[in-house]
Amino acid sequence: MNVYIRSIGAYIPENRVTNDELSKTMDTSDEWIKSHTGIEVRHIAADGVTTSDMAVSAAKLALERGGLTAEDLDMIILTTATPDYIGFPATACVVQDKLGAKNAGAFDMVAGCTGFIYAVDNAKNMILAGTAKHVLIVSSESLTKISNMEDRDTAVLFGDGAGAVIVSESSNDESSIENAILKSDGSGAEVLMRKIGGVKYPFEDGKTTFNDTALYMDGQAVYKFAVKVNTELIKELLERSNLSIDDISWIVPHQANIRILQAAAKRLRIPLEKFYFNLMEYANTSSASIPIALNEMYEKGEMKRGDKILLTGFGAGLTYGGTIIKW
Ligand code: ACO
Repeated sequence: MNVYIRSIGAYIPENRVTNDELSKTMDTSDEWIKSHTGIEVRHIAADGVTTSDMAVSAAKLALERGGLTAEDLDMIILTTATPDYIGFPATACVVQDKLGAKNAGAFDMVAGCTGFIYAVDNAKNMILAGTAKHVLIVSSESLTKISNMEDRDTAVLFGDGAGAVIVSESSNDESSIENAILKSDGSGAEVLMRKIGGVKYPFEDGKTTFNDTALYMDGQAVYKFAVKVNTELIKELLERSNLSIDDISWIVPHQANIRILQAAAKRLRIPLEKFYFNLMEYANTSSASIPIALNEMYEKGEMKRGDKILLTGFGAGLTYGGTIIKW
């Protein structure tokens, strides 16, 4: 049996904020953001629009394109760093209800920005094991809602959005989900985190502020980690799959910072043109960034069935991972 990505969808908030607009309220500039990250614009979800709302919009498009209804789904895996509620209930369950996916199990998967890659391999294995026939993966992130707008080191980097795919059994081998590498290095847990609000560092009445609960990142530590693991993942995935870079149509990396990919491409001697980027328009949307990029490629006709696409990601955990799909 073969398992493949049957269809794809995404949701991007309408509110488009340029670097120049951001620099009106923050001590930053278009020149700094572009030269340090490649980011030019981010999309920001309106107040009141939740992670589950964006997930539902992306999921509906993927279902429609896949010729399925919500009732055909056996499982919903939602990846996010910004759930509707802290800890529980899972945002996946909220999405299940909003979609009317009454036959589906639902759970959240927390693997930072690598969430989509972890979810693809898990969905594939659920189908191979006979647990499910159709799995919805939806990666939805409201990062601007957990950003500390007084911290220019992080606030300029993130955007909101959602991407969704339907993973199904296939009767032929034209399209498939192939090798995956899923890894973590928890010694880096505190370099990228939301510190306050869990059991280790609880809220303190009258003391905890919003910014204490916001996203914190040691940018340089993450940068070094990201260059190293992106390089290793691409090399190892090609080796394990017995493929050369010429067999791959696109590398679609987690869209965090163009400099990370430039450095990895240089180390691997792979032309930068092999990498698909759209971080210029959407900034870093964490686990949603890869399915948002794939959806854009699909809509622009940049990939066709049978093309081999290599995905890589890294993020909070620290987690990292990659997979090769035959689109
Ligand atoms: N605007 C203007 N100046 C700024 C800004 C800003 N937004 N942010 C920092 N600066 C200044 C600093 O204050 C510093 O000034 P100083 O030299 O006077 O002290 C200077 O710019 C350089 O700062 P650095 O932190 O050294 O800048 P660096 O070149 O390391 O770039 C960056 C910072 C872009 C965050 C980089 O470290 C990076 O990309 N790290 C990885 C980030 C990443 O990938 N995160 C996502 C991973 S996980 C996820 O997706 C959730």
